[in-house]
Amino acid sequence: MRICCIGAGYVGGPTMTMIAHKCSDIIVDVVDINADRIASWNSDNLPVFEPNLDGLVKEVRNKNLFFSTDVETAVERADIIFISVNTPTKKYGYGAGRASDLSYVEACARTIAKVSKTGKIVVEKSTMPVRTADVIKTILASTGMKFQVLSNPEFLAEGTAVQDLENPDRVLIGGDEETQEGRDAIDVLASIYERWVSPEKIIKTNLWSSELSKLTANAFLAQRISSINSISALCEATGADVDQVATAVGSDTRIGSKFLKSSIGYGGSCFQKDLLNLIYLCEHFNLPEVAKYWRGVVEINEYQKKRFSDKIVESLFRNICGKRIAIFGFSFKENTNDTRETPAIDICRNLLSENAVLAFYDPQVSAEQICADLQIEKTDSRVEFCKSPYEASENAHAIVLLTHWDEFTKLDYEKIKKAMMSPAWIFDGRNCLNHRLLLELGYLVHAVGKGNLS
Ligand code: NAD
Ligand code: UDX
Repeated sequence: MRICCIGAGYVGGPTMTMIAHKCSDIIVDVVDINADRIASWNSDNLPVFEPNLDGLVKEVRNKNLFFSTDVETAVERADIIFISVNTPTKKYGYGAGRASDLSYVEACARTIAKVSKTGKIVVEKSTMPVRTADVIKTILASTGMKFQVLSNPEFLAEGTAVQDLENPDRVLIGGDEETQEGRDAIDVLASIYERWVSPEKIIKTNLWSSELSKLTANAFLAQRISSINSISALCEATGADVDQVATAVGSDTRIGSKFLKSSIGYGGSCFQKDLLNLIYLCEHFNLPEVAKYWRGVVEINEYQKKRFSDKIVESLFRNICGKRIAIFGFSFKENTNDTRETPAIDICRNLLSENAVLAFYDPQVSAEQICADLQIEKTDSRVEFCKSPYEASENAHAIVLLTHWDEFTKLDYEKIKKAMMSPAWIFDGRNCLNHRLLLELGYLVHAVGKGNLS
C-alpha cells in the first residue's frame, strides 16, 4: 500500500511519521509545494520543533517515509491520499475574517482529479467546515472515476504531538456509511490505525458528524479556557485565587480538571480559526443565537489579553515609554516553535504602542519570526533579542512571562533581581512561578486571577 499526504506542516509531518513508524510495509510520501519546508524535513533541522519527533523521523526517513515536492507523482502512485494542508481564516471577500479559506483544499482536489488514473480513497485530515467533503466529491466526480472521500480529523496538540499520535483518546473516521464502498473505505483506513490503536477507540460516523465533531471539540476546549479566564477577572476583583477555584471546580468528575488553567488567553493556529468558522457556519445556517453564544468565547479571549497588557501599563505608573521590559517566551505554548495566534503578539503590540523597549527571550522562536509577527524591523530601537532570560532581564523594570517554558520555573530569580531596576515587577501570564518566593525576594508580582499578591 502507498499513502500520499499533501501538506508537510505541523500535522502532516508528525502524523505521517507515526504511520510510517507503525506500518513498515506501507510507503508514505509526504509532499508540499514549499520547497524550503521539504528541504528542512530532509535535513537534521526539522521545520517543526516537537519533543521526540527527530528520532522517529530519522528511523524511518528514506526507508518508508519520503519527503518531496513532487506532488503529482506521489498523488498518482498513491492508494490513499491525505489532504493535510492549511485551512486558514479567509482574508478577503465573502466571509472574510470568519469563514475558512478552502482554496488550498480545492487545489489538492483538482490535482488529485488531474493526475489520478484510478479511483482512490481521499482523506480530509485538515480541519474543514462541515460539508466540505461535498466540494472535494464534486471535483473528483468530474473525472468519471470512483473516489471515496473520508473525514479523519486530527486531534493532536502541538508540544505533545508524538504522545498524542502514539496514544490518541480516539481516532475519528467519517465516511459514506450508506454504501458498501463507503463502509469498505472506512474499514481500510481504520485497519491502518488498528496496527497500534485499539478498535474501541476508533469511532466511525457519517461524514458530516466527523467534520462537525472536530470544530466542536476545539470550540469546547477553547470555551473551558475562556470560562476560567472570565472567572480570573472576578478573582482579581474579589481576592479569590483562580488556581484554587479551578482545583475545587475541576475535582467534580462531571467537570474534570483538564483545560482549566487560567492564562493570558489561548493561542495557536486552531482555536481562533475554528471558533470563527463555527460562528460563520451558524450565521450561514441562520442560527444567530448559537453564533452569539460562541462569539462570547472569542470575546473573552480578546478581553483577557487586553486586561493583562493594561495591568502591566497601569502597574508601571501608566508610563512604560523607554522602559525595558523582559519578555519571557513568545510561542503560543511551551514545547513548540509555533507562534501562530500566540497571545504574545497582541500583548507585545500593546506594549510597543506605548513605546516600551522589549527584550525578548524564547528558547525556540527566532528574532526573525518575532519581527514578522509584530510587523516590525529587527533594527527597531524598541526591540532587543537576547540569548538568555538573564540577559533579557538586565536593567529591566519588569519581566513579563508569556509562555510556560519549563526553564523559566528554574531560574535564579535572586540573581535576576539584582540586575533589574527597582522596583522590579514580574507579570506571570501563566501562573507557573513560585509567587511566594518571588515576593520574599522583593519583587512586585502580578499573576492572572490572583488579586493583589503581597
Ligand atoms: P501548516 O500550515 O503547518 O501546513 C500546511 C502545509 O500545506 C504547508 O506547508 C503548505 O505549504 C502546504 N500546502 C498548502 N497547499 C498545498 C498544495 N496545494 N499542495 C501541496 N502542499 C500544500 O498547517 P498545519 O498546522 O499542519 O494544519 C493543517 C491542517 O490541520 C489545518 O486544517 C489545521 O486546522 C489542522 N490541524 C492542525 C493542528 C495543529 O496543531 N497545528 C491540529 C489539528 C488539526
Ligand atoms: C489544540 C487542541 O488541543 C488539539 O486537540 C487540536 O487538534 C488542535 O488545537 P494546540 O492548539 O496545539 O491544540 O494546543 P493546546 O494545548 O490546546 O493549547 C491551545 C492554547 O490554549 C495554548 O495557547 C495554551 O497555552 C492555552 N491553554 C491550554 C490555556 O490557556 N489553558 C489551558 O488550560 C490549556
